[in-house]
Amino acid sequence: MARTITLIPGDGIGPEVTEATLRVLQAAGAELEWDRHIAGIEAFEKTGQPLPDELLDSIRMHAVALKGPVTTPVGKGFRSVNVQIRKALELFANLRPVESVPGVPARFENVDLVVVRENTEGLYSGIEHEVVPGVVESLKIITEKASTRVAKFAFDYARKNGRKRITAVHKANIMKLADGLFLDCCRNVAADYPEIEFDDRIVDNMAMQLVMRPDKFDMLLLENLYGDILSDLCAGLVGGLGIVPGANIGESIAVFEAVHGSAPDIAGQNLANPTALIRSAVLMLEHIGLGEEAERVRAALQTRLAEPESRTRDVGGQASTTEFTDAVVRTIERG
Ligand code: NAI
Ligand code: MG
Repeated sequence: MARTITLIPGDGIGPEVTEATLRVLQAAGAELEWDRHIAGIEAFEKTGQPLPDELLDSIRMHAVALKGPVTTPVGKGFRSVNVQIRKALELFANLRPVESVPGVPARFENVDLVVVRENTEGLYSGIEHEVVPGVVESLKIITEKASTRVAKFAFDYARKNGRKRITAVHKANIMKLADGLFLDCCRNVAADYPEIEFDDRIVDNMAMQLVMRPDKFDMLLLENLYGDILSDLCAGLVGGLGIVPGANIGESIAVFEAVHGSAPDIAGQNLANPTALIRSAVLMLEHIGLGEEAERVRAALQTRLAEPESRTRDVGGQASTTEFTDAVVRTIERG
């Protein structure tokens, strides 16, 4: 029986990369039904809610969602739908594997990093208020519970996937209490996994080391805001946001989405690279036990990304979103 997945195409380039992903999944023979939902500006205009209750209910019911990017207004307007989904469903770990893709032009050829980002608290929560005009306060809340569970997730992932080392990233020299607690929790968890090497870096130094020698690192474990910033940096090491996948994972629910946003600068022009969402869907297929279909998609992507003529512009080609997708679909169909 076909498994039902909640689908949130999102906005900006979201609908374009979502359509591309659905075509590829279908070509790979993944038996899936989609329960489609709107979010963000479109949902706000139609229902008065940027994150409709039916959407969250659907994800709770099906336990798995595939999500395109959703635009968040800057400086004013509703709070990020993306952050609200992660919080409402307690998707406490954000997993972002960042690998060099053979043939894709990038600064490095040997990057193989896994970024694990705490997904529910920290400064990224945007809990802020105006104290008096001209003075605002933004609260960074760090808890032992959330820090410990994301650290456990990272170490379990390392164990399952044969990873050797985890580096925690923090600014505990300055935020001695908040980042100090995060780091202590990581250290405590690390003690239960003696076979996995554990160390830590201060975040600014980490940024410098990543752009100079990314091959020196294996897995990174970060608080929410640092994870947001350094995942884009890591994407830049391997060819950009167009190719890096992601997953938001909780106890029993998982929402798969690319690292990138709605890319308004190229939206609606058939220019977006759907690889990042397609690869997020590959993670999803593996998560629901469709390993063979995942492998078919992975192999076809690899073939097509290695050829300049089938690639989209962000990775050094000339192909449109649909031309790239056609090429991937043909490759899968040829087997
Ligand atoms: P962005 O990730 O949308 O774009 C950054 C740059 O990368 C742009 O030049 C864009 O054209 C390029 N890019 C991104 N994805 C691409 C793709 N698939 N193919 C080719 N080029 C690609 O980041 P930006 O501009 O900061 O954010 C735009 C909007 O997206 C904002 O409203 C932001 O809040 C939202 N956003 C949503 C996310 C989500 O839904 N999870 C994540 C990040 C941002
Ligand atoms: Mg981000």
